[in-house]
Amino acid sequence: MEELKNRSKFSGKIGFVLAAAGSAVGLGNLWRFPYLAAKYGGGIFLLVYIVLAITFGFALMIAEIALGRKTGLSVSAAYKKLNRKWAFLGYISAAVPIIILPYYSVIGGWVTKYIDTYVSGQSAAAADANYFSNFISQTWQPIIWFGIFVLATALVVFFGVEKGIERVSKVMMPILVVLSIGIAIFVITRPGSSAGLKYYFVPDFSQLSSKTVLAAIGQLFYSMSLAMGIMITYGSYMKKDVDLEKSVHQIEIFDTGFALIAGLMIVPGVAVFSGSVENLNASGPGLMFQVLPQVFHNMPGGHIIGGLFFILVLFAALTSSISLMETVVSIFQDRTKLKRKTLVVLVAVGTFLVGLLSSLGFGVLSFIQPLGEGTSLLDFFDFISNSVIMPIVALLTCIFVGYVIKTKTISEEVRLSSRFREEKLFVVMIKYIAPIGLVLILVSSVLNGLGIVKI
Ligand code: PHE
Repeated sequence: MEELKNRSKFSGKIGFVLAAAGSAVGLGNLWRFPYLAAKYGGGIFLLVYIVLAITFGFALMIAEIALGRKTGLSVSAAYKKLNRKWAFLGYISAAVPIIILPYYSVIGGWVTKYIDTYVSGQSAAAADANYFSNFISQTWQPIIWFGIFVLATALVVFFGVEKGIERVSKVMMPILVVLSIGIAIFVITRPGSSAGLKYYFVPDFSQLSSKTVLAAIGQLFYSMSLAMGIMITYGSYMKKDVDLEKSVHQIEIFDTGFALIAGLMIVPGVAVFSGSVENLNASGPGLMFQVLPQVFHNMPGGHIIGGLFFILVLFAALTSSISLMETVVSIFQDRTKLKRKTLVVLVAVGTFLVGLLSSLGFGVLSFIQPLGEGTSLLDFFDFISNSVIMPIVALLTCIFVGYVIKTKTISEEVRLSSRFREEKLFVVMIKYIAPIGLVLILVSSVLNGLGIVKI
């Protein structure tokens, strides 16, 4: 385990924010946020998400980054250093990236496939309603693209060329944002978009349920790379004089802003091309891949824009999958004597084998519907990590910070670089509101799952 002095530090003030944003911004914003917003009632999901982001997300991100910067260590060692008894929290957090990486790579494979589709001039075919379902229900096609994505991620981690990828994505990311804004403007100026816009922005409180809140919390963790130790590791590389609180705000604004734009391309897009918002509640993981090809098909030059778009999305996905794979490799590096390169190969093979379940879950294994009618194995893995383990990790982190090491430990760390402007909010969230809220949400989702109550 490297100590603080051996850790290379991010250069400059903006270096940390960019690196953390590279991990945060990915398929969570583009693929996951829009389909959840569609599924959980549009405006109400948006409202719950934003409120949670500026309160709970803020507090947890401050805590994680400060823990990392204070100890100079990555997740399990950081907890162990502060309190031996809490080393177990590091082990639970470790389960999260291990579960996410395989299915994240399956979706990354879908993105790679769509690059091929556009580059080979099949944009009209992709706009067909059945193109996506025909693709994912096959056996070999999705596996091959998924394998390519895992290989690409593994090669970067194996040869240690993350820096190169980061440099490229620093250019690609702003282009992706600008392009997404352009696509969103195109969509919302189409006839028929108003029903979609209304659905997306106007909260319908009758759709508010514990499921909506749980989905929003899970999405918050996922999208901001929280509750799995990643931000602790990033924090350990952060210089002491960088304004921690301001950095957290910048990451949050960037991540949430981009998710909102992605939703704006996709949710009203459904209203424009299907003529109604009625089926939005039935949206699933395929939404982005079904809607965007229709948008591109109706856009002048759409076949080129579509190709460019998916190439940029691939980069956003790769920076995230690389940070996931890095984390998984370092988890095993801390616990075994194996060499880093051997571990990269083993992790890549393991990721591929486990991911096969998610990939085949839309085809030959589609009879396995663990979460009920119409759900897939991918939904299952996604649910276990984001709606079960991450809320538990977050709850334990709040207890640890609020009552074991005490919030002042974090406040002192934040104050090394600036005044702690929202300290009160931070303390109240970590000690009271977040833990109570998380317990309520977890209990109600268990009761809901057992069919005991419907909340
Ligand atoms: N936050 C990333 C995204 O939105 C996903 C991710 C989660 C990346 C955890 C790294 C760690 O796509």
